[in-house]
Amino acid sequence: MSGRLFVIGTGPGNPEQMTPEALAVVEAATDFFGYGPYLDRLQLRSDQLRHASDNREELDRAGAALSMAADGANVCIVSGGDPGVFAMAAAVCEAMENGPAAWRAVDLTVLPGVTAMLAVAARAGAPLGHDFCAISLSDNLKPWNVIENRLELAARAGFVIALYNPISRARPWQLGEAFKLLRHHLPATTPVIFGRAAGRVNEHIAVQPLSQADASIADMATCIIIGSAETRIVARPGKPDLVYTPRFMAGGKR
Ligand SMILES: C[S@@+](CC[C@H](N)C(=O)[O-])C[C@H]1O[C@@H](n2cnc3c(N)ncnc32)[C@H](O)[C@@H]1O
Repeated sequence: MSGRLFVIGTGPGNPEQMTPEALAVVEAATDFFGYGPYLDRLQLRSDQLRHASDNREELDRAGAALSMAADGANVCIVSGGDPGVFAMAAAVCEAMENGPAAWRAVDLTVLPGVTAMLAVAARAGAPLGHDFCAISLSDNLKPWNVIENRLELAARAGFVIALYNPISRARPWQLGEAFKLLRHHLPATTPVIFGRAAGRVNEHIAVQPLSQADASIADMATCIIIGSAETRIVARPGKPDLVYTPRFMAGGKR
């Protein structure tokens, strides 16, 4: 008998940014798989089982959860943010495609969540008000030259760029290189928003012009939004600046 597998996201960290739909799944599931700190965000009952694993073990985690669901359990895999954005939903699909036939028979439900760039954008104003893209800066799963190419083309095409996974102990130089490259294609005044731990108690939002953007203030809990040439800053007395990208651009029909 096949059970069910839900893949949910906790949102960026503020419990109020977890969807009611995901909370209902947490009530009903019996077994929870995920990176320990994400599982810690859930209030589980004593009859619900945690299966915590390291953040880099996504495929093994997906396989273990699928095996348990294939045996009839009601299983939940937990990601931070949205489970489909640089997270577990893709690892589950990969395991289902390449694993045993019984895994493909599992009843799978992926629920959307609030992804980091939305939480950071909301804090700053509306930097994603016009066309944008999201790029993971991690060169673990793709080569660095592909990332450089995507950054250049996205900047030249006028997209606002949200950067996930900007920096880590094993990847200390990539963000600085990304800023250097983007300085060739965007105005020096382009706003760069560093959104650290958005929605959590230690949240910190900083805005710097691209010419002075300092990679050393970012860490693994930071999502960076780099404006386009259209992105504007509105100064307000006694309040943080607003950063937004207007809906209209020259040549558009109002
Ligand atoms: C592996 S990705 C997971 C993204 C996640 N699935 C999401 O939708 O937000 C991890 C990256 O997400 C970003 N991130 C996650 N939570 C964040 C938060 N609360 N504030 C800022 N950035 C965050 C950081 O760029 C971090 O390096």
